[in-house]
Amino acid sequence: MDDDLDTLLDALHREGIEHDATKPDRFDRLRNVEPDTARLLAVLVRATRARAILELGTSNGYSTLWLADAARATGGRVTSVDIDPDRSRLAAANLDRAGLESLVGLTVDDAARVLADSPAEAWDLIFLDAERPAYPDYWPDLVRTLRPGGLLVVDNVISHADQVRDFRAVVAADPRVTEALAPTGAGALLVAREPAPAR
Ligand SMILES: C[S@@+](CC[C@H](N)C(=O)[O-])C[C@H]1O[C@@H](n2cnc3c(N)ncnc32)[C@H](O)[C@@H]1O
Repeated sequence: MDDDLDTLLDALHREGIEHDATKPDRFDRLRNVEPDTARLLAVLVRATRARAILELGTSNGYSTLWLADAARATGGRVTSVDIDPDRSRLAAANLDRAGLESLVGLTVDDAARVLADSPAEAWDLIFLDAERPAYPDYWPDLVRTLRPGGLLVVDNVISHADQVRDFRAVVAADPRVTEALAPTGAGALLVAREPAPAR
């Protein structure tokens, strides 16, 4: 990562914390991912050579910038979805500041609809960071749209364990995937779709 992007990400992270501290209503907060989790995502994109990357929950684009920088390294591209057009506009401005706008398609839509409209096996890596109660309903499309061997990363599984309990039970019961909990940041659940059998 170049120094300018590193500096911008540090500033965004600091500003995000300061912003959120002034907002009693969680829906007014930016709720950026922890830097350690963002770094983990950046490593996972590179290690899996993910090229088709889907982010569900853009906010102001903090995690999107990390994903886009990693996509630049793999020759990939990020599609990032947020239901809130104001958030998406903030993300667009931050991507412009970082010079990463050509690597990201920002979509203002419901995550459920984007998943439902995605073709089977469309995504190499999905980062899920939206409204947790909806996650169990996303599951059939999450598995369907991950390519075999693809990776789903879900944030906040330790910080909001009660809100993801049902989702985690669904994931744990599904033989098409293998999961591991990374106790990084707010807790990242890593879910790998089984690879296609070797020929
Ligand atoms: C935790 S924040 C995302 C933080 C971002 N990933 C980051 O680290 O900077 C959650 C975002 O999900 C968006 N969101 C909530 N429900 C959604 C839905 N059904 N579809 C798409 N986005 C949604 C919110 O508007 C909010 O910006």
